[in-house]
Amino acid sequence: MKRIFQFLPLLIVVGCFQFLAAAQASRAARIALPPMGWSSWNSFSNTINSAITVAQANALHSSGLQKAGYVYVNIDEGWWVGERDSAGNIVVDPKAWPAIEPGERAGDMSNIVRYIHSLGLKAGIYTDAGKDGCSMYPDIGPAYFHTGSEGHYEQDFLQFARWGFDYVKVDWCGGAKENLDPDFQYGEIARAIARAEKITGRKLYFSICEWGKDSPFTWAPGVGGADQAIWRTGGDIVAPVVAAGPHTERKVSLENMLRNFDRNYHPEAQHTGYYNDADMMVVGMPSLNAAQNRLHLALWAMAGAPLLIGADVTALDAATLADLTNPELIAIDQNPLGLEAVKVAENGPGLEVWSKFLSADGERAVLLLNRTYFPAPMSVRWKDLGLTGSEATVREVWTEKTSAGIKDKYEATVPPQDAVLLLVNGTEGLFAHYTPDATDKDSDGSETRFSGIAASAATFVPVRIEYRNPTVETRIAALRVNEQASTRIALPPTGANGSSVWIQVRLDRHENSNRIRFTEPANVRIESIEVNQATGAGM
Ligand code: GLA
Repeated sequence: MKRIFQFLPLLIVVGCFQFLAAAQASRAARIALPPMGWSSWNSFSNTINSAITVAQANALHSSGLQKAGYVYVNIDEGWWVGERDSAGNIVVDPKAWPAIEPGERAGDMSNIVRYIHSLGLKAGIYTDAGKDGCSMYPDIGPAYFHTGSEGHYEQDFLQFARWGFDYVKVDWCGGAKENLDPDFQYGEIARAIARAEKITGRKLYFSICEWGKDSPFTWAPGVGGADQAIWRTGGDIVAPVVAAGPHTERKVSLENMLRNFDRNYHPEAQHTGYYNDADMMVVGMPSLNAAQNRLHLALWAMAGAPLLIGADVTALDAATLADLTNPELIAIDQNPLGLEAVKVAENGPGLEVWSKFLSADGERAVLLLNRTYFPAPMSVRWKDLGLTGSEATVREVWTEKTSAGIKDKYEATVPPQDAVLLLVNGTEGLFAHYTPDATDKDSDGSETRFSGIAASAATFVPVRIEYRNPTVETRIAALRVNEQASTRIALPPTGANGSSVWIQVRLDRHENSNRIRFTEPANVRIESIEVNQATGAGM
C-alpha cells in the first residue's frame, strides 16, 4: 500500500480508475501460507503409531527439511479405532501411543505432541466429519467403524487442542456415507475449532478433505468463519492398499500426479490464506524417478499447494532431499500473495505455459510443461506474462542457469512428460487502481461496484482488493465479475488500518467494460481494487 502511494503523484486519473505503472509491490497482507510438512497416510496408511511418528519427526528435524520450512508432522487415519469412554472421550491404544518421557501416561496423545513440539515442529491430527471415518474401508489394516467426530464436534476439537495439536484434517468418508451437506458440516466444525481455540488459546489449522466432490472451492473459503484453510480438490493421489489384494505397496504414478494437479485448478477460489489442496505429495516414494519428483514439486509449487511430504522421510535419498529443500522452489510455493498459477498459453497440443504471479514487481514463476511423449522446443513470451517486452532475467530453477538481457521471450527444449521451471524478472505491465462507482451502493449499503475495468485479453488477471474489516471475525464477501457466478472471498479482520487480499478473476476481452461487484457483509468495506491490465495474450 505504502509503495503505491509513492506513485500517486504519477497517476493519470481517468474517471474512476487510475493507471499505476509497475506499482504492485509490497502487496502482501499478513496471511497463513500453504502448510509444509509431512503426513503419514501415503507411506504408512492406517499402521501409524508413536514409534513411526517419532522416527519421521526426527528425520524431518535432522535432514534439513524442518529448516527449509517443513514443520508439520501430521498423523492421518488409523491413530484410533473408534472407541470412546462413557463420557464420549476418544480412547486410544496405549501400546500404539505409549509414554515417551518418564512420568507420562500411556494412551495419551499429548505425549507425541510434546515430543514433536520438543523438536520445534508442529503436530497435526485427523478425523472425519461423519460418524464413521475412512477406517470403515480396509487398507493395510482391518476396517474400523465410528472413527468420525459427528455428534462430538465440540468435544473432539477441544480434545485435539487440549492435547496440543496445531493442525486438524477433517475427512469426508462418513459425511459422504450419510449424505451430509459439507458446507453445513464443515461450518459447524470451523465453529467447534474456534470455540476450542477460545477455551485453550491453541489454534488448529483447518484442513478440509472433501475431495472436490461438492465443489468446495465454492464454499470452503472462510467456511464457518475459518480464518485460514485448505480444501482438497480431488481424490487420493495414491490408490488404497488392500492387504489381502494384489499389491501391498502404495501405487504411485505420474498420471495420478497430473490428474490431481489438473483437478486442483481453481484460481478463482484460491486467495491469500485460503488454498486449493492437490493432496499430500508422493515425491520420494518408490516408483517415481528424479525427473518425476522434480516435476511433481514444480507443479505443487506453481499451484501454491500445501507441500506435505507423503514419503518415508527416513528413506529419502540426497537428491530428493536437495530438491525438496530447494529455496527457490519453496519461495515460489510460499509466495505471500498465495495465488495459483494460471495457464497463459499453449505452444501446441500438450505444450502448456503456466504463469504464477509473485509479490515482487515484474516477477513470475513460469512452468513450460510438456505433456507429450516427445521432446519439444517451447517458449514463453513476456506478453503472455503481463510483462512489457523489455529485457528480462531468466533463471532456470533446477539447473540454476541465469540468463540476463532476454527480450520478448525465452525458449527451452523440454523433455517428454517433463517441465522446465523458470523465474522471470522483467518489467511489470500496467496496473490500474479503481475506486468504487459513484453510485455504488444499493439501498441497504451492502454492495460495492467497480465498472469500466479494462482487460487486454480474456484471461485470469490478478486483483488486489483493499478492504477494511474492523470486526474481530473473518467475514465473507461475494465477488461477481460481469454478473457471472460469484466467488467467496474470506476477509480476515484488519483492525482500523485496512489490509488487502489478492485473488484472480477472469475478465472478458472487451476494452474498459468489465464490471466487478462485491456483496459485502455487515461492517466490512471494500475500498478499492487494483487490476493487472496486461496479463496474458488470452487463453
Ligand atoms: C481419504 C483421504 C486420504 C486419507 C485417507 C485415509 O481417502 O482422502 O487423504 O486421509 O482417507 O483413509
